[in-house]
Amino acid sequence: MPNSGKKVCFMTGGSGKLGAEIALAVAGQGYSVFFTWGRSEEKASETLEKIRWVSPESQMVQCDVSKVSEIERAFEAFTTHFDRLDLVITSASNFYRTDLLDVTEEDWDNLIDTNLKGTFFTMQAAARLMLKQPFTSRIITMTDISAGMVWRNYAPYTVSKSGIQHLTRIFARETAPKILVNSIAPGAISAYTSREEEPEADLIEKIPLQRFGDPTEIVSAIRFLMESDYITGQVINVDGGRLLY
Ligand SMILES: NC(=O)c1ccc[n+]([C@@H]2O[C@H](COP(=O)([O-])OP(=O)(O)OC[C@H]3O[C@@H](n4cnc5c(N)ncnc54)[C@H](OP(=O)(O)O)[C@@H]3O)[C@@H](O)[C@H]2O)c1
Repeated sequence: MPNSGKKVCFMTGGSGKLGAEIALAVAGQGYSVFFTWGRSEEKASETLEKIRWVSPESQMVQCDVSKVSEIERAFEAFTTHFDRLDLVITSASNFYRTDLLDVTEEDWDNLIDTNLKGTFFTMQAAARLMLKQPFTSRIITMTDISAGMVWRNYAPYTVSKSGIQHLTRIFARETAPKILVNSIAPGAISAYTSREEEPEADLIEKIPLQRFGDPTEIVSAIRFLMESDYITGQVINVDGGRLLY
């Protein structure tokens, strides 16, 4: 059933810590939100309930983004609810430590298929819809400053995020001028940072602005990209200067 002409966002990973904040903020900007979740039904339902206070027509669907058939199914469900697509945010992601010499095929597939393959096929499905529309739309990928660093013990994760940054540039070029495609790369965000091998104080010492970021600061960067008309193919690092270190 088509919605009432409001702008519409399709987002993966709306049940995530940062993902839920982003989904809520997008709804707060006047969008209808359709988001996916994987295993966290309770968190997803809580998030949908909050979103519906401001955007009652919003929806969610379970979708394992590591499977193309599930992404296709999610987009089919999306098109039964909404007749336009203004914004896609690819936030679904797996993150865990994998010591280089112990990375298993299962680790590799799990991290690369969810993060990189899932993002690619979400962007592809989105672009197929967006390119047919008579207006400009946007894709924002969620990556990580680690895409440009050499973190020990996170090879599949950092490779996946690095690949997504490259996909961001590829889609930006190939879908211009109809779709603006950019990426947000968060640094260490307060409350969510959990790399056990690096104590908090050591981490903060490497951040020129001397503190962790706040989720609202990621949301501000997303809002900036939602409103920008002349930026595409860029990665915005929201990291307190961590990459300068
Ligand atoms: N939080 C940070 O400090 C931080 C820092 C750097 C980068 N980032 C990036 O920012 C984005 C949002 O982060 P976050 O804090 O929301 O992450 P998070 O709390 O770890 O949440 C991950 C999200 O991805 C979903 N997901 C994982 N595997 C999935 C699968 N196979 N199929 C479908 N969904 C799957 C989870 O769904 P379920 O729980 O429902 O399974 C959840 O919604 C991510 O891309 C992350 O890499 C975050």
